[in-house]
Amino acid sequence: MPVTVVVGTQWGDEGKAKVIDLLSRTHSHVVRYQGGHNAGHTVVVGSEKYALQLIPSGVLYDHVTPVIGNGVVVDLPTLVNEIDTLESRGVSCARLRVSSRAHLIFPWHQAHDALAEDKRGDDKIGTTLKGIGPAYADKARRVGIRAGEVLNPGRFAELVRQRAKEESAVLVALGGTAVDADAIAARFTELAHRIAPYVADTVNGLHDALAAGSSLLLEGAQATFLDIDHGTYPFVTSSNPIAGGACAGTGLGPRDITRVVGIAKAYTTRVGSGPFPTELVDADGEPDVLGTALIDIGHEYGTVTGRRRRTGWLDLVMLRHAVRVNSLTEIALTKLDVLDTFDEVKVCTDYRLDGEILGGYPDLIDVLAEVEPVYTTIPGWKTTLRGARTDSDLHPNARGLIELVERNVGVPVTMVGTGPERDDCVVRG
Ligand code: GDP
Ligand code: IMO
Ligand code: MG
Repeated sequence: MPVTVVVGTQWGDEGKAKVIDLLSRTHSHVVRYQGGHNAGHTVVVGSEKYALQLIPSGVLYDHVTPVIGNGVVVDLPTLVNEIDTLESRGVSCARLRVSSRAHLIFPWHQAHDALAEDKRGDDKIGTTLKGIGPAYADKARRVGIRAGEVLNPGRFAELVRQRAKEESAVLVALGGTAVDADAIAARFTELAHRIAPYVADTVNGLHDALAAGSSLLLEGAQATFLDIDHGTYPFVTSSNPIAGGACAGTGLGPRDITRVVGIAKAYTTRVGSGPFPTELVDADGEPDVLGTALIDIGHEYGTVTGRRRRTGWLDLVMLRHAVRVNSLTEIALTKLDVLDTFDEVKVCTDYRLDGEILGGYPDLIDVLAEVEPVYTTIPGWKTTLRGARTDSDLHPNARGLIELVERNVGVPVTMVGTGPERDDCVVRG
């Protein structure tokens, strides 16, 4: 039975949620495998807009079991709020399962995140300040608290109080502010009661589902170039969004995976700091006319932090690297409609450094910061793509861009986004 992985191929916000929503129609389980509430995933259904941070986008379908996998770091206040909000809008979360192995985020993680960013001065990562890095650091240091602990409320309260006291002292020593251990223990014990019914052994649960013939969709948050190993370190998140992370973050094995869909926006965006070769900025580093057009037409503002996203042309050097590290079987090209009014569209096919074309994506960000993009220019289509349902509905110039991507990266583009709504999509081949 199929196990499909969906992975971002750029720096996040590629429109993964919409593609996951589409693919959810043919899968019975949708599983988040890493990250936390740093993710912001938007699905538009008619006049309804759903903005999700933790619960997989598949929750909107009655036939789907949404699962928060063991690789996720879970912020209980956000999760409870998301459940309550969905339920109040008539979306049932009864089938939601949260891995007992998933690690929890606590207020001291957020305090550490803010303190670390503060200390970096001008070299900030530009994190979402959600405590993601410190929570994964605690997991690696083997001092984390896992979701399974909520099943033993007495011990959970004690563990939380103990860790809060320890971290409070560390925060003060680092020049930060103390946290109130008793208040945190009380609040999180209450949240623990709310979440306990959803906590389960998802690893065995997913294997049993697979053995029973179910089809699983494994949903990555963030993206390839925010991956802690393969992204533009240190301007990355603290987990492994790449497809390989789906195994570690769900407990399924590499041979279980049958399909890997890479999501690429038809241009590029990035929130936070770090090199961005195709960025459309003026001499002062502010968005230029075309960069501003992408921000305005594409509504490129973060769902989680509201920050304006940095914008630039599509970068096929990145995409070729994403094909490699994720074993992509195909690409979904999203937000092509955002380019509808452009006179011409540029696509970066190579990087040049000191007059030489580079052989692959650079391993060091110092090199990435120096490369000069080599562009192919495509004439614009100057017509709306909205309403297109098949390949032949697309303007030939838009098809030209899609075919350039396919030739250049070596895998087919199987889906094309033509608008924010659920059905604004061309499914190809
Ligand atoms: P994710 O983090 O990868 O799930 O992406 P986000 O939800 O953060 O950002 C993508 C934004 O683009 C959302 O507001 C979507 O509603 C919107 N979107 C997704 N696909 C398309 C598309 O094909 N065209 C347009 N115009 N908007 C899209
Ligand atoms: P989705 O799933 C875009 C970025 C932050 C920052 C860096 C590290 O919606 O695509 P963190 O808080 O994770 O320690 O921040 O990663 N970042 C994202 N950028 N989309 C996301 O998620 C992101 N999640 C984290 O802006 O640069
Ligand atoms: Mg997002």
